Amino acid sequence: MDESNYHSPGQIKTCADADAWLRTGVKLFAEAAASAIAARGAFYVALSGGSTPRELHTWLSGEATPAAETGADQIDWSRVHVFFGDERYVPHDHPDSNYRMARESLLEHVSVPADQIFPMPTSESDPAQAAALYETQIRKHGPAAEEGGIPRFDLILLGLGPDGHTASLFPHTAALSEREKLVAANFVEKLDTHRLTFTVPLLCAARSVVFLIRGQEKAEKLKRLVEGPYEPEETPSQLVQPEHGSLLFLVDKAAASEL
Ligand code: 6PG
Repeated sequence: MDESNYHSPGQIKTCADADAWLRTGVKLFAEAAASAIAARGAFYVALSGGSTPRELHTWLSGEATPAAETGADQIDWSRVHVFFGDERYVPHDHPDSNYRMARESLLEHVSVPADQIFPMPTSESDPAQAAALYETQIRKHGPAAEEGGIPRFDLILLGLGPDGHTASLFPHTAALSEREKLVAANFVEKLDTHRLTFTVPLLCAARSVVFLIRGQEKAEKLKRLVEGPYEPEETPSQLVQPEHGSLLFLVDKAAASEL
């Protein structure tokens, strides 16, 4: 790859204000769900962690804004299968748990059948064993595998860390180079903690990847992510380039301020 002339293949959707960002997020989710359910009878989505998704979840659930006003009422939750793109290695009721955030802001308020919700396991003594267990769950209960035998999620939501990480693919960590496993345990030295994360092959097999990015603190890294140079050890989010799927950066004006 010509690192100096790199430009992300992703589309950038810059929203004028919070309301537009949230409405667009709901629309993207609802459209992806409707398309997958019409085509294959089910919608397989991997939710993102961190804090940005929380408000979007409250809009998807209709808790923040009437679902009929945003199109969220069109989502057939009974056909939705929920996975997680990464997780902190903490109990599911821990304040840092991505599953807890999704449960509180979305899953407790919509009618996804309990046996269609798959939190990442975090109670195994060995995180690598937990990662392998989750990969087995994805292969058994997740979307069909296509090219190369990799399950193809209909939608993977991701965030962008100020250091350029996404999911739990942090700069200069071992999981960045994982190309066989679909889920990896990743020790993040600067946080002195283990994480579980989708790996590049699984992320890049998705039909659609949407990065949810808001805030001035993301502006510098978003510019680097989109405009290069291509340095994935520094900006791991650059590794997410769906081979046969779409890539969209849903951003607010503050995050887009340096583009
Ligand atoms: C996590 C994430 C992580 C997150 C980014 C952005 O577990 O923290 O999944 O990749 O998406 O760090 O986080 P914010 O949305 O909190 O800025």
